Amino acid sequence: MIKHIGVFTSGGDSPGMNACLRAVVRTAIYHGIQVTGIMKGYQGLIEGDFLPMNARSVSNIIHRGGTILKSARSADFMQKAGRDQAFKMLSNSGIDALVAIGGDGTFRGATIFNSEFGTPFVGIPGTIDNDLYGTDYTLGFDTAVNTAVEAIDKIRDTAASHDRLFFVEVMGRDAGYIALWAGISGGAEAILLPEEKTDIDKLISLLKTGEEQLKTSSIVIVCEGDDAGGALEIAKMVKAKQPGFDTRVTVLGHVQRGGSPSAFDRILGSRLGVAATQELLRGVHGKTAGILNNKITFTDFTKATKQHAPLDPEMLRYSKILAI
Ligand code: F6P
Repeated sequence: MIKHIGVFTSGGDSPGMNACLRAVVRTAIYHGIQVTGIMKGYQGLIEGDFLPMNARSVSNIIHRGGTILKSARSADFMQKAGRDQAFKMLSNSGIDALVAIGGDGTFRGATIFNSEFGTPFVGIPGTIDNDLYGTDYTLGFDTAVNTAVEAIDKIRDTAASHDRLFFVEVMGRDAGYIALWAGISGGAEAILLPEEKTDIDKLISLLKTGEEQLKTSSIVIVCEGDDAGGALEIAKMVKAKQPGFDTRVTVLGHVQRGGSPSAFDRILGSRLGVAATQELLRGVHGKTAGILNNKITFTDFTKATKQHAPLDPEMLRYSKILAI
């Protein structure tokens, strides 16, 4: 019987984590379970940086970006000694189950910890990258796409006024979700993704065709994980081959990680938070919550961390049709 759960956020923060934390805390309390917030992810677990929580501890946070529990990528937790210390801290505080909100690194850590100490765990997918298996959407992705689109719209105004070619770099270390969605929403001429090999000559010929078809300005979205490099490098390569293009570069960076979560991310965080906590209390563990076809589902950690969801090939095709 679980009596006391711990909850933490880990890896890169994402908008909607606070809404999700609120849901976890209130669901636990609703079911008469004690709940403790663990600061700074796995590092806080090792250091015993714990915060007892009640329903009011999570008041007025549903609209706030970032995570009030803070986040970190812990090198100590990668070592067995760090995990032993984390388990000692958990046992001392009476926490008998955990809810981890984070990305694939978070789930990998949880899987190892679970196999070593048997502590029941559920995961909730929180990353702007949307690259986790077992869910159509991760927490923060929708907000990050909206932030990127707002920026692209503004860039479009100035690009059109000066007849310029803009390269806009968006986040996505391994996956091009933000790039693809923001590119389609922002009406980009081209979207360069880690999932497709980038060919600079092909890109130039596409941009020249656009000019022939009376386009006076263009926007190229570059995913930070693109195989040919970031937006600065790609712009340089294009300029070297085509000095006539009036190019500019904007790197959106961490702006995409912050900000008030969209209504979509607040709902997603609330749904996943309630469902994951209830499943944990029912005895389900070693799984991550997700949303597939608008239904809450649970996927084994081992499966969720082995692969990440591929981009929808139809979306890729649409992006090319829409850019002519
Ligand atoms: O995983 C989310 C993410 O925002 C990636 O898109 C990006 O590459 C990375 O985190 C940046 O990490 P950090 O904030 O540690 O520099």
